[in-house]
Amino acid sequence: MTYKLELTKVSKSYGDKKVIDDLSLGIEPGEFFVVLGPSGEGKSTLLKLIAGIEQPDSGRILVNGVDVTSQPPNKRNIAMVFQSYALYPNMTVRGNISFPLRMHGASKDTIRGKVESVSKLLKIDSVLESPVSKISGGQQQRVALARALVRDPSVFLLDEPLSNLDARVRLSARAELKRIQRELNQTFVYVTHDQKEAASLADRVGVLHGGKFECVSRYQDMYEAPLTKWLGDFLGDFPMNFIPINSGSGDGAVEAGFRPEWVKVGSEGFHAEVEAIESSGGLYYLFCVTHEGPRVVIRDSVRREVGEEIRFKPVKQLTFRNGMLVQTPGEKLSEPSSRA
Ligand SMILES: Nc1ncnc2c1ncn2[C@@H]1O[C@H](COP(=O)(O)OP(=O)(O)O)[C@@H](O)[C@H]1O
Ligand SMILES: [Mg+2]
Repeated sequence: MTYKLELTKVSKSYGDKKVIDDLSLGIEPGEFFVVLGPSGEGKSTLLKLIAGIEQPDSGRILVNGVDVTSQPPNKRNIAMVFQSYALYPNMTVRGNISFPLRMHGASKDTIRGKVESVSKLLKIDSVLESPVSKISGGQQQRVALARALVRDPSVFLLDEPLSNLDARVRLSARAELKRIQRELNQTFVYVTHDQKEAASLADRVGVLHGGKFECVSRYQDMYEAPLTKWLGDFLGDFPMNFIPINSGSGDGAVEAGFRPEWVKVGSEGFHAEVEAIESSGGLYYLFCVTHEGPRVVIRDSVRREVGEEIRFKPVKQLTFRNGMLVQTPGEKLSEPSSRA
């Protein structure tokens, strides 16, 4: 059984700071949904509201159409895995995984069966009798996940679960997690500030900004056509470039937006001077100042020198008016997509 999760008009303040602001969202059964946003934007708060650890000031939370807003966490059957896993270090892997089942008074046979199947799924069945303090960080992360899995929760909430792992382990753990979610076919809500994680894990990404979702869509769609300047700036290894356009109509500031890789360096277009260079994977990111004034970052395959004069021309560009993407008729944009 897979579960649908709905939030309708949920708000939460701490003191006079509104952290979640009239937020509505529907997550489909079996969807891998990623909440992406800078630190302090309320990602953890949102998960705590779903889990029932925090109460919203207003709004409702529904699981498969059932209003769980007033239910305590242990009645919601929603599992949450935190950044710090809070495992019992001196207990064995088996002891840690079976802990929630023992608390629920499950029979010995049930516990044994569940622990075996979950630990096989997560490939930690070979370390079941090891103390948690003796296994690797990647394995500890899986034990935390296993401990959540044994309870057969309706929805999984994961709060930056990979951020304590070193880079290599994080990559393999990410792939593992995606596999596990596919295999379980359960609804996951995964919080991260890491765009690479969002891009590789998510069916859909919701970017949290100012207590609302700036955008909800597939990562690639919002990267290619961000609905706002803020989003264009936030997404990507380098921010989107913006250059003012003289518009005849005079109805607000109009700008061209283009990504570093949407540019052709050659004998046409803007004049600019290279101020700094970063190389990455055989490509060069040129930090330039245009003769018109705006600074841009453009990607090129040729090594240049600082101080060099170049010309570049965007081969693809978007138009923004007053900070919002101008969507040309007939253009196919992110789907499904909404601006909450
Ligand atoms: N229990 C709390 N009491 C007061 N302020 C809080 C509490 N929890 C979170 N906040 C504040 O709410 C904002 C969002 O926090 P959080 O949800 O942890 O953000 P994120 O997980 O995106 O980094 C922050 O400004 C944080 O200081
Ligand atoms: Mg957080």
